[in-house]
Amino acid sequence: MSPLVPYDLRCEHLATPRGLNTSAPRFSWALRGTGVERRQTAYRLCVTQSSGAPLWDSGKVTSPRTQMIDYAGPVLPKDAILSWTVTVWDENDTVSAAAEPATIFTGLAAGDWQAQWIARYFVLPAGREVPADNPYDNRWQARPADYLRRDFSARAEPVRALLYVTALGLYEAYLNGQRIGQDVMAPGWTDYHRRVDYQVHEVTDLVRSGGNVLGAIIGEGWYCGRVGHNQRRAGNHYGGRPAFLCQLHLTHADGSLEIITTDEHWQTRQGPICYSDFLMGEMVDARLDITGWDTAPGPLPGWQPVEVFVPDPAAPQLDAARMQPAREVARLPATFSHRTANGAAIFDLGQNIAGYVELSVSAKAGDRFTLRHAEMLDAAGEAYTANLRHAVATDIFVTRGGGRETFKPRFTFHGFRFVEVTLPEAMSPDDIGLVGIAIQSDTPLCGEIETGHAQTNQLLSNIFWSQRDNFLSVPTDCPQRDERYGWTADAQVFWKTAGYTMDVSAFLSKWMLDIEDGQSPDGAFPDVAPTKPLNPYRLTPQPGAPGWGDAPVIMAWEHWLRYADKGLLERYWPALEAWAAHIERANPDRLRRQAVYNNYGDWLSVGPASDRTLVATAYWVRVADLMVNIAGVLGHAGRAAHYTALGQTVRQAFAKAFLDADGHLSGDTQTAYLLALDFDILDAPASARAATRLVELIEAAGGHLQTGFLGVRHLLPVLTTIGRDDLAVAMLLKDTYPSWGFSIRHGATTIWERWDGWTPDNGFQSTNMNSFNHYAYGSVGEWIWSRLAGIDTTSTAPGYEAIRLAPLFDERIGMVRARYQSHRGSVASHWQFIEGTVHWTIDVPANCIAHVALPAGWRRRHDHADGWTLGSGEQSYDLERI
Ligand code: BGC
Repeated sequence: MSPLVPYDLRCEHLATPRGLNTSAPRFSWALRGTGVERRQTAYRLCVTQSSGAPLWDSGKVTSPRTQMIDYAGPVLPKDAILSWTVTVWDENDTVSAAAEPATIFTGLAAGDWQAQWIARYFVLPAGREVPADNPYDNRWQARPADYLRRDFSARAEPVRALLYVTALGLYEAYLNGQRIGQDVMAPGWTDYHRRVDYQVHEVTDLVRSGGNVLGAIIGEGWYCGRVGHNQRRAGNHYGGRPAFLCQLHLTHADGSLEIITTDEHWQTRQGPICYSDFLMGEMVDARLDITGWDTAPGPLPGWQPVEVFVPDPAAPQLDAARMQPAREVARLPATFSHRTANGAAIFDLGQNIAGYVELSVSAKAGDRFTLRHAEMLDAAGEAYTANLRHAVATDIFVTRGGGRETFKPRFTFHGFRFVEVTLPEAMSPDDIGLVGIAIQSDTPLCGEIETGHAQTNQLLSNIFWSQRDNFLSVPTDCPQRDERYGWTADAQVFWKTAGYTMDVSAFLSKWMLDIEDGQSPDGAFPDVAPTKPLNPYRLTPQPGAPGWGDAPVIMAWEHWLRYADKGLLERYWPALEAWAAHIERANPDRLRRQAVYNNYGDWLSVGPASDRTLVATAYWVRVADLMVNIAGVLGHAGRAAHYTALGQTVRQAFAKAFLDADGHLSGDTQTAYLLALDFDILDAPASARAATRLVELIEAAGGHLQTGFLGVRHLLPVLTTIGRDDLAVAMLLKDTYPSWGFSIRHGATTIWERWDGWTPDNGFQSTNMNSFNHYAYGSVGEWIWSRLAGIDTTSTAPGYEAIRLAPLFDERIGMVRARYQSHRGSVASHWQFIEGTVHWTIDVPANCIAHVALPAGWRRRHDHADGWTLGSGEQSYDLERI
């Protein structure tokens, strides 16, 4: 048998951490091995300095552990690049080769920062009227991007150069004319009054002995541009102008360190980016190009000195980025569709994305191209932008002339599938090149899934794209209108689905901090995180409604099940307890009527509305139960007992208040029964009646769902639990209103916010709130993965150490082929019908086990088993109906 192979090395959930915020980072790896029942019996982890000198050698440790192993070597050096690898021993004590080494940038500590924030001098607006006498004036008073630069002389060619860099706003950094890194929308969104993430890039090859030029372009972004929908305070949520900070560390051959920082020696001026704003768009006038700004030795004439900037109300803490940066992740060629009534050209990407377009043209100096972005076309074939509310989502490019030119915005993004291009007269759509570029936080893709059913495949694609389009630094509700907040309920209902598609471990590790930063002193978690722009005039963040404020408890538990990351539970336990206490204090009679804030209920459901107190109280039971689980993991027995007792009394209060003598729940809605059943709130006889009533309600609705954001997640899982897989599949496949299939039949390429976002009878829903790219209803993805493909976690051995394989076989679906890259290794399930029987192939990673549970009515052909446990490896089974 060949040795095991350790691969997919991760430190603090990242392939390459760019800076650490801990002195004891945690190491993990996945395993691969041929044959069956492969196990790791020991490992040896080695961390090496860039000089090649060993830093820490764990020695051979007898242990099957592959996840979250604490660093236990000498104090980690700062400002270092380390390399680490691991070797493992298998069940026969055969040793593996060392894994492909991974890199860690250790980053800087708070005391290592010498750089000062710099910004362009603040110029007060001239008057009340918006001026219009220079190229930087615009209706929205959105700022031009600032160019910043300084030249410096390096003592010698360094042996290593590291650039530590960030902005209050957005930045792109340049060294000797080269853009540094490929991140977009850096440094990402945090509560800038508390913290900002920095990035670190190795730039050794770019620095030369003697003269060098370091530069940056900065824009408004989340810091001072428009964010959210509050028109009384549309922008400037954290400050009035963007600022930049960087520190370049040059290590010389003699061991000395030379540091170049942002300080008063920098110069600034404006360039071709006349303005750029997330919601308004970006305008570039290429005639204002300042070519050479990032290479010419300086100081340069016409440039002003910068101002050393003192952030208000205090300098933010500088954190190493905890998650993957945002990047351009896909390019989609746009095809010309048609001309509109006024002659503009409509281009179609064929896919709703978040990002921007790259335009290439040859035109004369001063020609103007206006690009309007839209998710949909109206009946006349015009770009439909009414649902963008105050987002103007328009980019403008003015050409310099004299050859092929390319425009791509830097500091804005839009949610769109269609682009309306107003071309200069006499130009035809064939004269331009247009490519859509999708951006997202670069969370690694980890799931591949395909079924034998076209509509289900399109649904999976729509879920994938809505996730991609909304995972930009934080999980947002939508990428197009004047909103784009990290709404907590949207994320929690979707979190299990999200984890199958992309590795969201680092992403959540960062967002939990944003949520905690938004927690009120009295323990309330916020409705959105980061919180500031939602309610700019509140002194404390807007507290979370039931299902919204509960999100961190739910997501922390989901994170535990998927990644077995106890550190995150430990880190946030006090915050979770403060939230639980907040609910408990306000509701002594154990019905959740107080501290419900904007109590949104089962948001955007169709049909009869659910009782909001019932929904809130059901969620309270869930919170109490999850707190029992988390307390159990952390060994807080007393607290577990407390939440167990609380769960009991809230259950009693729930049954007393909402259950009538016929076994009906108040409001009598699908969601009421779904929550009662999935959260296991009622006793067995009442649950049985609830199950019957749920099915009656679905049948009365013609087999249609009537659920909103909170209810929908539980629909198919509950039908499976109550033995109605047949009905679950029927609802999945439905394409009449309201259903997932309905939007697909009408051309959806992402998940719509509303079941009736567009209908043949009524056209578009209200312009007030109608996104076509909101992932909440995509929460059905978890059922497709965990039940249809049958790949799920277990709470007894989380993180896929023990996998639950419980597929369901349905001839309407025909086949499912799914592969999921867990942190421990690759898990697969592939079933297909062959003449009434099922052939099922599974793959379990080395060092893991799987518990198989066949769906009711099925058994293994050769021995009639319907459930068994197995070790690692690939196995195939023939299954038959009983
Ligand atoms: C957002 C939702 C959010 C909701 C709260 C909407 O404006 O788009 O996704 O959860 O508000 O009610």
